[in-house]
Amino acid sequence: MSESAQEASADLDALVATGLAGLVPRPFRVDRSRRETADTVTLTLAPVTGGSLEFAAGQFTMLGVPGVGEVPISISGDPTWPDALQHTVRDVGGVSHAIASARAGDVLTVRGPFGTGWGVGDGEGGDVLIVAGGIGLAPLRPALLELLAHRHRYRTVTLLYGARTPQDILFAEELAGWRGRFDLEVELSVDYAPPSWRGRVGLVTALIASVAPEQTLALVCGPEVMMRFVTTELLHRGVPAGQIRLSMERAMSCGVGLCGHCQLRELFVCLDGPVFRADRVLGLMAVEEL
Ligand SMILES: Cc1cc2nc3c(=O)[nH]c(=O)nc-3n(C[C@H](O)[C@H](O)[C@H](O)COP(=O)(O)OP(=O)(O)OC[C@H]3O[C@@H](n4cnc5c(N)ncnc54)[C@H](O)[C@@H]3O)c2cc1C
Ligand code: FES
Repeated sequence: MSESAQEASADLDALVATGLAGLVPRPFRVDRSRRETADTVTLTLAPVTGGSLEFAAGQFTMLGVPGVGEVPISISGDPTWPDALQHTVRDVGGVSHAIASARAGDVLTVRGPFGTGWGVGDGEGGDVLIVAGGIGLAPLRPALLELLAHRHRYRTVTLLYGARTPQDILFAEELAGWRGRFDLEVELSVDYAPPSWRGRVGLVTALIASVAPEQTLALVCGPEVMMRFVTTELLHRGVPAGQIRLSMERAMSCGVGLCGHCQLRELFVCLDGPVFRADRVLGLMAVEEL
């Protein structure tokens, strides 16, 4: 190795040692873009150089388009098969539009993975409940896939999913497969539906009535107001706040605890979250505009 290459390698080692390696983006090529709904796509990415990205269910990356910007997006793929890095992105603004418009062959940048995971293993031996609202099913999909990969370690596994309309349902084909399994309970509800819809209509909270509180680990992700109602309902059913986990969203820039953009009073969502125990964030969620 030349002297300058040795120096560069030493610099990189030093960077990794300080934990700042998370600031360096890696190029990933889009292998596939699958349309989920009118405004949402799932991208499957592969590293241009280096190994695949190992991650825990619930973690996110800073996903970027060169020259446009980067935003925090949860990993929606299978943690037991990290070779295919998947993100499910809703087109809501400048950067997410550029990401959602990416086609096979395009190169995006990835930093991470960052943050805390769902801690699915904590539910071993007991019942695990997943409650998802809208795009919130994307960060929960890795948790469900992990549960299914080790299904024998858990008692009951239940997915309650609420979408705005039938057209907004994510992972529709996969959901149909999950509904056909004997070892998984799946309930689906939409807020609004045309007369042709044969399924349930109503809020996802209405599905919680049958939850058995003992030994239940509850993983919840969706709009903040939905997570507040779901948590209240679960507490009412007797599920302890320490066994309820919520994934929080805040504006982010660095992803590694340096910029302060994601601060939620004393918490940094990028480092301490995005997954929190309900008893840690419930009080903060009640404060408007925090
Ligand atoms: C940890 C984490 C995980 C996320 N996972 C996903 C995911 O899996 N899929 C997905 O589609 N989106 C996810 N988001 C939200 C995503 O980061 C925002 O939609 C994105 O930053 C919007 O940026 P933009 O430039 O496209 O739009 P902007 O023009 O910046 O904003 C468009 C709208 O989105 C709102 N917004 C902007 N940033 C955020 C944010 N960070 N959180 C919530 N609302 C925001 C704005 O208030 C505005 O209403 C996640 C956010 C966080 C913090
Ligand atoms: S995103 Fe910069 S501190 Fe969390």
